[in-house]
Amino acid sequence: MKYDNSGLTLVTDEVEAGAIRWRSPSNIALVKYWGKHGDQLPRNASVSFTLDAAATDTTLHYTPRQQLGEGIDLELYLDGNPRVDFAERTRTFFSKLLPIYPFLRQLSFRVETQNSFPHSAGIASSASGMSALALCLVSLEEALFEPLTDRGAFYRKASFLARLGSGSASRSVYGSAAVWGKSEAVADSSDEYAVSIADRLHPVFQTYHDDILLVSREEKSVSSRAGHGLMEQNPYAPPRYDQANRRVTEMLRLLMEGDTENFGQLLESEALTLHALMMSSRPYYTLIEPNTLHVIKLLQHYRRETGHPVHFTLDAGPNVHLLYPDAIAGEVKDFIRGHLLPYCEDKLYLADRVGKGPQQLAANTTTSVR
Ligand code: PMV
Repeated sequence: MKYDNSGLTLVTDEVEAGAIRWRSPSNIALVKYWGKHGDQLPRNASVSFTLDAAATDTTLHYTPRQQLGEGIDLELYLDGNPRVDFAERTRTFFSKLLPIYPFLRQLSFRVETQNSFPHSAGIASSASGMSALALCLVSLEEALFEPLTDRGAFYRKASFLARLGSGSASRSVYGSAAVWGKSEAVADSSDEYAVSIADRLHPVFQTYHDDILLVSREEKSVSSRAGHGLMEQNPYAPPRYDQANRRVTEMLRLLMEGDTENFGQLLESEALTLHALMMSSRPYYTLIEPNTLHVIKLLQHYRRETGHPVHFTLDAGPNVHLLYPDAIAGEVKDFIRGHLLPYCEDKLYLADRVGKGPQQLAANTTTSVR
């Protein structure tokens, strides 16, 4: 897929200031992406559920740039406060997109962004943040130039752009569930963008909850960029990539059949494989905490006692995601409150579930850029 287009430049005195706003959710990988190459291309395919409550709401204000400079003219506010670190990261991202969107140099931007979850929750905001920004950019292209051919082309391009910001963000532009990376099981899949697999989900999985137990709210001790990099020297990397690709095929079958039991076994093995890869890298990282294991052990016990299909997964951190169907939500939440919250920092968990995907919102266009 080639999106480079030197024709996308503006006659700036014909452009009016405006704003575009998208709310985009986070996602949780069921089969994990860990290891990349080239320009943000995955070493293996991955599949995720799109979440609902954990989301980023981003407004992109734009106005014609007064004086054409070299770089990108952008400032960024997180929860109303200027953030030079995120502004710098966003400028780097926009610069990278200049071959696709040369007009980004011709505008001044103010990005206003907020996360629905507390910044210090230890929840990665890159998937929701980068996908929200990518969606704003494709909408901006449509506002300034022409609409893309159809909504499929719109989301594919948003996913492509999001991927350049953060790999897992490519999957957040679709509701329910998505696959990113070339997979034999999905005809139109690609390493360059994610595709929706919403129509393949058995109804039971459409009702799934994901309760995120905040075992620790500390920032990750390793960035995902460094983590992916360590895979290049990891002796288990080549067989892992083969395994992950096979597992995407298997996961898709289980999602389609509504097989919650085998789904759960595969889900948990994926989580532990991700952490085993980190523990077998040099330098190694132990991102799980003692309380992560306490929660897992209690969950195993609960499952043996009740037979309920509630299973865990982990991201690149200590927090435990509990996935289960809506039919047992009341009982599982009682179990969480009664037995698992003592192992969570400040006795906190975030209740989330499989969601419908990003939403474009009305932007307040009266606020000007500087
Ligand atoms: O998108 P990145 O570069 O932050 O990598 C995310 C990797 C995992 O969250 C650990 C797994 C995944 O597939 O989302």
